[in-house]
Amino acid sequence: MKRKIILTADGSKTIQIEDWDEQYHSKHGAVQEAYHVFITHGLRLFADRKINLLEIGFGTGLNALITLLEAPKLKLDVNYVGVEAFPVSNEEVAELGYCAQLDCADKQTEFQRMHETPWEEPHPITGGFVLTKQKKDFLEVKDENLFNLVYFDAFGARVQPELWTEEIFSKMYDAMQQGGVLVTYAAKGSVRRAMQAVGFTVERLPGPPGKREMLRAIKN
Ligand SMILES: C[S@@+](CC[C@H](N)C(=O)[O-])C[C@H]1O[C@@H](n2cnc3c(N)ncnc32)[C@H](O)[C@@H]1O
Repeated sequence: MKRKIILTADGSKTIQIEDWDEQYHSKHGAVQEAYHVFITHGLRLFADRKINLLEIGFGTGLNALITLLEAPKLKLDVNYVGVEAFPVSNEEVAELGYCAQLDCADKQTEFQRMHETPWEEPHPITGGFVLTKQKKDFLEVKDENLFNLVYFDAFGARVQPELWTEEIFSKMYDAMQQGGVLVTYAAKGSVRRAMQAVGFTVERLPGPPGKREMLRAIKN
């Protein structure tokens, strides 16, 4: 599928799948959305802890990068697992320019290492951040009682409805520890109901700029 890099409203870039008119992040602001959904309403709940974090859709690595930047501020040790079937290229990573955008040129080497480390093995990126990238389909996630936090960042249900079903949320539920939290930018009623059907308690929270709501699901 053809990918092109576009500018979003907060000045940060993202990738667009032209045929689907679908973006890796919100057109209203890629960095703003990522911070709002995954850091403010997800990572911040785990301050002072050692956590296992699963990202559904490693993509550009933006969520991993902002997690790496925020973890020391929150005194967090993060074991980060990013699942991705269609990795982006080094050229795309360079063109997105996230380290410049986030004013973290000092983390450029670490960010590059995130993209260059081999798949399927854990690699320490900084003292408190270990990354394992897994190249596989989301439907192949088979972990049990492992993750404290899930960043659920698949393409929208409009273009990939098969990724917003009870089948996938049941896999997420099984993969999470009790008390685990899943956050996503999505807010559709059908998504919320699929989460509830597999056992999650679901909250509707204010969405990032340009979106009224987002969802946070808890495994009680
Ligand atoms: C919305 S984008 C993710 C954005 C990413 N979190 C980031 O910060 O760049 C969705 C990602 O899921 C990947 N993807 C789509 N379908 C998939 C599938 N069935 N299994 C694994 N990865 C998939 C895409 O290649 C894309 O990188």
